[in-house]
Amino acid sequence: MKLIIINGPNLNLLGKREPEMYGKQTFEDYFSTLQFKFKDVQLEYFQSNIEGDLITKLQEVGFSYDGIILNAAAYTHTSVGIGDAVKAIKTLVVEVHISNTHKREEFRHISYISSGAKGVILGFGLQSYDLAIQSFL
Ligand code: DQA
Repeated sequence: MKLIIINGPNLNLLGKREPEMYGKQTFEDYFSTLQFKFKDVQLEYFQSNIEGDLITKLQEVGFSYDGIILNAAAYTHTSVGIGDAVKAIKTLVVEVHISNTHKREEFRHISYISSGAKGVILGFGLQSYDLAIQSFL
């Protein structure tokens, strides 16, 4: 089983960025624990702050991988392009968020990803990624 985690803008700053909201752990550190836990899964990780790079990556993996775990971060709430890419590809996408976006500002209640996603997992901290992997197993 080949899965990829795709993270959008500012998620490279996890650990430093608003730790009260997103936690104190870096994603690289958390990713190692996921690799250790899910040894039978070929797990990849990609992060970009650039919308077009996220779309290119979705297109690249979206016809051959078994699953995509996507946290498009702020682009979730703005990007028709990423939403369209999710609908254009064959591989199922699980949308993930660290925080419960529905408890936050109103602009975060909108997602351009959800309507094309297999499902949405949000509000469980970094564990949201773990739950998303489990949803593919
Ligand atoms: C986020 C929620 C988004 O609203 C925000 O812009 C992020 C992170 C989350 O994982 O909770 O950057 O996607």
